[in-house]
Amino acid sequence: MKKQIQIEDRMFGQSAEFENIRRNAKIIAAADVTVLIQGESGSGKELMAEFLHASSRRHDNEMVTINCAALPENLAESELFGHRKGSFTDASSDQPGRIQQADKGTLFLDEIGELPLAVQGKLLRFLENGECQRIGDNKPHKVDVRIIAATNRDLQQEVKAGRFREDLYYRLNVVPLQVPALRERSSDITFLINQFSALFARKHCLDAPRYNMKALEACQRYNWPGNIRELKNFCERMVILMSGQTIGESNLPAEIYQQQQAASFSLPDSGIVLEKLEAELIHQAMDKSRGNQSKAARLLGLTRSALLYRMKKYALKL
Ligand SMILES: Nc1ncnc2c1ncn2[C@@H]1O[C@H](COP(=O)(O)OP(=O)(O)OP(=O)(O)O)[C@@H](O)[C@H]1O
Ligand SMILES: [Mg+2]
Repeated sequence: MKKQIQIEDRMFGQSAEFENIRRNAKIIAAADVTVLIQGESGSGKELMAEFLHASSRRHDNEMVTINCAALPENLAESELFGHRKGSFTDASSDQPGRIQQADKGTLFLDEIGELPLAVQGKLLRFLENGECQRIGDNKPHKVDVRIIAATNRDLQQEVKAGRFREDLYYRLNVVPLQVPALRERSSDITFLINQFSALFARKHCLDAPRYNMKALEACQRYNWPGNIRELKNFCERMVILMSGQTIGESNLPAEIYQQQQAASFSLPDSGIVLEKLEAELIHQAMDKSRGNQSKAARLLGLTRSALLYRMKKYALKL
């Protein structure tokens, strides 16, 4: 359990939302089932996969990560399943595949939404029977892995668009785990800033800066489209630039500060029709994001489900 303790120390969060996720993750980790982690870019999906592995009974064995976005279609089969020497022109020696390397451990399929369609079928076959056949072998062999997949795409949407196989989607989505966007747990922001500031102050042998109330409030209101990754990088920058000093609103980067000004809207004397304005803003957000609902939700500071609810309410085209 040493690994779990190490990773719990690295996975910060104390809001009710995060405690809930952590509790669920521990239950799911113990069950040795396939998990599909979904969440926006930078929200902590990979860290969550490490947490699941470290909290599982497989923690003494390896977690092998395959970045599906970096898997060229022509090499994917050999990379995943391995090959025998001479089975194709460049096969100069026997190579085990990545799947086999994960035997008795966890196979983390990162960015699964990017997996080329042709490879999706091959992966599905493996997931159905647990058998892995190297290119050039005439017999498959059993591999015992636990699958964790992650994506920042809306896989259901990808299925609808014909870019992701429906059967593979169901095979992966046995237990879904949604990592919330940072703006959906903004009560964690002050805590995270303190943790990251202390961490980077230690790393750079500097004194951590202090944030005044106005600066903290601005950080809490900001959307953080890059989620925890953006907050973490921001904290490192602030430790370096403002070591030992007090950070006020004017020391914040433009995107955080300007967002505050853009957010202030003054009601005209003639009044408005709130519902009409809301429908219009949703329209504009969908246009700006070229129909991508997750992006549109981000522009409006909403969760995707809250956006869908409102679109239904105003009978806007889904
Ligand atoms: N709860 C957390 N506590 C501390 N650090 C975190 C937390 N969640 C994420 N991080 C850090 O934020 C960064 C981004 O996290 P991670 O790579 O897991 O995100 P991701 O969802 O996989 O992103 P992407 O979609 O871009 O692949 C990493 O440096 C990670 O260590
Ligand atoms: Mg990732």
